[in-house]
Amino acid sequence: MRFFLDTVDTDEIAALVETGLIEGVTTNPTLIAQSRRSQRDVIRDICSLLEGPVSAEVIATDYEEIVKEAHVLADLASNVVVKIPVTFDGLKACKTLHKEAIPVNATLCFSPLQALLAARAGAAYISPFMGRIDDCGQEGRKLIEEIRDLYNYDHDWDTEILAASVRHPKHVLEAAHAGAHIVTVAPSVFRSLYVHPLTDIGLEKFLQDWRASQEN
Ligand code: G3P
Repeated sequence: MRFFLDTVDTDEIAALVETGLIEGVTTNPTLIAQSRRSQRDVIRDICSLLEGPVSAEVIATDYEEIVKEAHVLADLASNVVVKIPVTFDGLKACKTLHKEAIPVNATLCFSPLQALLAARAGAAYISPFMGRIDDCGQEGRKLIEEIRDLYNYDHDWDTEILAASVRHPKHVLEAAHAGAHIVTVAPSVFRSLYVHPLTDIGLEKFLQDWRASQEN
């Protein structure tokens, strides 16, 4: 499973890309709005920080305008992926953009049937929102498992499952077990993945013992 960052914080992206463990970035209109900058400037800055795919989401909801906006976003940088909700017009636009070799991240996915249609429409990625499903008292993990089962039946598809709306490390583990190809996480969640108190305690003990041995 690959790791993407779900953020517009360019300082954090730059810092975590340095680990060599971050292979892409996803954004959404809420994150862009919080940045108080233009989507154009934010996406261009992010795309300059890594070679991997950077998802930039359309605001338009009707087919014609989605396609028009997708062209504008795709022209911002060579590693832009256009993010489009899995609506009727969104799927129609995805099919059109697939024919034009413009990669699409089909987002706001909450059902396996939406994922099935997105794959048929040629989406490069499908984004099931694990956290928002869990917030409803259901199990986001099961949606990813179902999508993975469906995708396994048809080997012509190359749509990758991009687990999104990930709230904590347990979601990351569940996404991995469920067969997601990619997980996109906030920087704070990524930074929590490698933390364990016993690692810190064990390291301190090793260093203490080593220091003591150097004094004798
Ligand atoms: O950016 C897509 C997805 O990760 C958003 O998740 O936290 O707003 O439910 P969230």
